[in-house]
Amino acid sequence: MNQINKVADVLAGADRFDHGSLSLVTCYDYSFAKALDGICDYYLVGDSAGMVVYGDADTKSINLTTLVRHVQAVCRGAKQTKVIADLPIHSYDTPDAAVLAVTAFQKAGAHGVKLEGASPTTLTAVKAIKHILPVMGHVGLTPQLLDEYKVQGRDEQSAQRILEEAMALQNAGCFAVVLECIPASLAQKITQVLRIPTIGIGAGPHCTGQVLVLYDLLGLYGDLQPKFVKQYADGKAFGRKALEEFVDEVKSGTFPDESHSFK
Ligand code: KIV
Repeated sequence: MNQINKVADVLAGADRFDHGSLSLVTCYDYSFAKALDGICDYYLVGDSAGMVVYGDADTKSINLTTLVRHVQAVCRGAKQTKVIADLPIHSYDTPDAAVLAVTAFQKAGAHGVKLEGASPTTLTAVKAIKHILPVMGHVGLTPQLLDEYKVQGRDEQSAQRILEEAMALQNAGCFAVVLECIPASLAQKITQVLRIPTIGIGAGPHCTGQVLVLYDLLGLYGDLQPKFVKQYADGKAFGRKALEEFVDEVKSGTFPDESHSFK
């Protein structure tokens, strides 16, 4: 299958480039991937796993071996939702390293990969790997490259830089670009200028699509609560209530009853 067909397959048709037409959520394991399969367009097996699954302070500690295992798990559970794998920090420092990493994700079942920034190293990596799997870029707040999580592109100079980075990623061959934590007006401008879809997270309503971290959306991760996160469920309260009921029933002797025991 050539590159153009692969990208078309991943994106499931150019008509889906309409505003608001792409939805992504991060996903890290088999059970969530299976339970939520077919609802959104893509799962992103993000390096945010380092924070929300492993409790690391940032996304810089997770390595390729660990993420490949998560990608395998998600791909086993996802029969309809396409899977994008995040290239962890340093896994695309050289074209050879990038090719090895993307090949590992491809073997694990991923349909595409994502990487951060638009440095010459990153752009070289995009060109080296785009023939293996479609590549998604990521500009604005790029946690692999920054130490402080704050809105990017507020002044004219940095806004122009982010626009140019997004264009450079498009020209290098990316099929989409994540815009993280930038003013809505800048995201709108980038979305108007680019041919490829933009995926916003903290980038306002004018992007082609949106992505959120699953555990934020479900109210399961509370260590960071950025303004752009909308919590759609109180997963923590839901889980605690179920566990408390289990503990109460164990204490009172009502669990296990006959229906949960073998004769
Ligand atoms: O790793 C991740 O979760 C991400 C999203 C925030 C886009 O890169």
